[in-house]
Amino acid sequence: MPQKHPLLLLIFSVFLIFQTSDGHNITRLLAKHPSLSSFNHYLTLTHLAQEINRRTTITVLALDNAAMSSLLNKNPSIYTMKNILSLHVLLDYFGAKKLHQITNGTALAATMFQATGVAPGVSGFVNITDFKGGKVGFGAEANGGDLDSFFVKSVEELPYNISVIQISKALPSAIAEAPTPGPSELNITGIMSAHGCKVFADTLLANPEAMGTYEDNLNGGLTVFCPLDDAFKAFLPKYKNLTASGKESFLEFFGVPVYQSLSMLKSNNGLMNTLATDGASKFDFTVQNDGEQVTLKTKINTVKITGTLLDEQPVAIYTIDKVLMPRELFKAAPTPAPAPAPEEAADAPKASKSKSKSKSKSKSAPTPESDAPADSPDDDPADQTADDNAALSFKGGRFVAVGLNFLLVFLLL
Ligand SMILES: *[C@@H]1O[C@H](CO)[C@@H](O)[C@H](O)[C@H]1NC(C)=O
Ligand SMILES: *[C@@H]1O[C@H](CO)[C@@H](O)[C@H](O)[C@H]1NC(C)=O
Ligand SMILES: *[C@@H]1O[C@H](CO)[C@@H](O)[C@H](O)[C@H]1NC(C)=O
Ligand SMILES: *[C@@H]1O[C@H](CO)[C@@H](O)[C@H](O)[C@H]1NC(C)=O
Ligand SMILES: *[C@@H]1O[C@H](CO)[C@@H](O)[C@H](O)[C@H]1NC(C)=O
Ligand SMILES: *[C@@H]1O[C@H](CO)[C@@H](O)[C@H](O)[C@H]1NC(C)=O
Repeated sequence: MPQKHPLLLLIFSVFLIFQTSDGHNITRLLAKHPSLSSFNHYLTLTHLAQEINRRTTITVLALDNAAMSSLLNKNPSIYTMKNILSLHVLLDYFGAKKLHQITNGTALAATMFQATGVAPGVSGFVNITDFKGGKVGFGAEANGGDLDSFFVKSVEELPYNISVIQISKALPSAIAEAPTPGPSELNITGIMSAHGCKVFADTLLANPEAMGTYEDNLNGGLTVFCPLDDAFKAFLPKYKNLTASGKESFLEFFGVPVYQSLSMLKSNNGLMNTLATDGASKFDFTVQNDGEQVTLKTKINTVKITGTLLDEQPVAIYTIDKVLMPRELFKAAPTPAPAPAPEEAADAPKASKSKSKSKSKSKSAPTPESDAPADSPDDDPADQTADDNAALSFKGGRFVAVGLNFLLVFLLL
């Protein structure tokens, strides 16, 4: 395979984050190989198995029970174990054949350790070198070029979804093996700033009350959805318009007080409370997924999760493509009526005024499942406007999303 520039591999890996395969189950693949049972057990304990099953075009560098026990002799915590093993999952496909045909004999591969956002610099890359005589060596790039772990044999290959190959010993890496800092030592604004959410991170840092709320939740579990810079920058005039308490609630709205891996988000579709939720102020949103694409939605708009910046139980940080707007603070803007549904638009608001809300919903919307969540209705004006918008575009979930996205783009211009 051609030698790739690390950055290219990294970008490539970002695209792979949301690809999955229903085709493989690493736990089941490894279960056929008793000599790899300890490795298999730890993939499950660290939740890496789920992550491996979610991805395609990957290579797992498996360790036999002897190699695992020398690793375990150092008594790593489960978090450290997760870092070490995630360095053994390459975000590219290397079957036995491809390993021996590496262009110019050497390549750098990004790993899942790199993708967690914890690995500094190049420490999440693995150097693969094809030596004379067909011996293939592996080493963590940050380990001074020592390639002292070698290809043993191919274990399982499902081209080009997943390749499992056995290597002779764990890849030494001082960084992956370092005691993992407790979650309270994590610098979440630093991680966000370094990965495309600098404007959001700076805004959060400038608001000590909201920042304090995030920090208070680090140990118990926290999931952050940070809007990417372009989107948040364009939103700043609206943010600045909020009252002091509105600003605090708004910033807290992007944090959820529990740890949610991407697979958990996919399987826990439904309403989610946020750090801003406080009694009557719901500040919640709905999580939905369409295959691999996870979206967050309020009655005002819908945003997509576009990447994972950190996924280290108990803290996860994801990027979102737009600024999710809580209906407690924003009203849906007057709609530049989308062409396909002008008639319904004219009728729906009248119908909803004379009837109870839930009734009008089922009346005006033949496909209620595409409408807003089955949320207890209340009668604030923002809510009302949002409902009208939903009625405008009830032809299907996709259309609702397109319409609201259009609306948001329009608002951001
Ligand atoms: C392979 O090596 C040659 C000569 O050193 C170099 O010109 C070429 O760019 C290398 N190819 C790759 C893919 O690194
Ligand atoms: C690879 O994954 C796809 C689904 O993403 C599946 O349809 C296909 O059968 C898998 N291939 C192999 C060889 O398992
Ligand atoms: C993978 O296989 C294991 C063992 O057969 C099973 O317990 C687990 O539920 C499977 N995971 C998925 C996602 O199917
Ligand atoms: C991998 O390591 C070897 C030995 O240290 C080095 O010669 C080679 O250039 C490295 N390969 C890459 C792609 O950095
Ligand atoms: C967190 O990271 C930011 C940006 O990298 C840095 O300015 C700040 O000093 C860090 N905070 C702590 C407490 O380390
Ligand atoms: C800020 O609020 C004022 C008064 O409610 C409104 O007229 C103005 O359009 C708002 N600006 C933005 C950028 O939302």
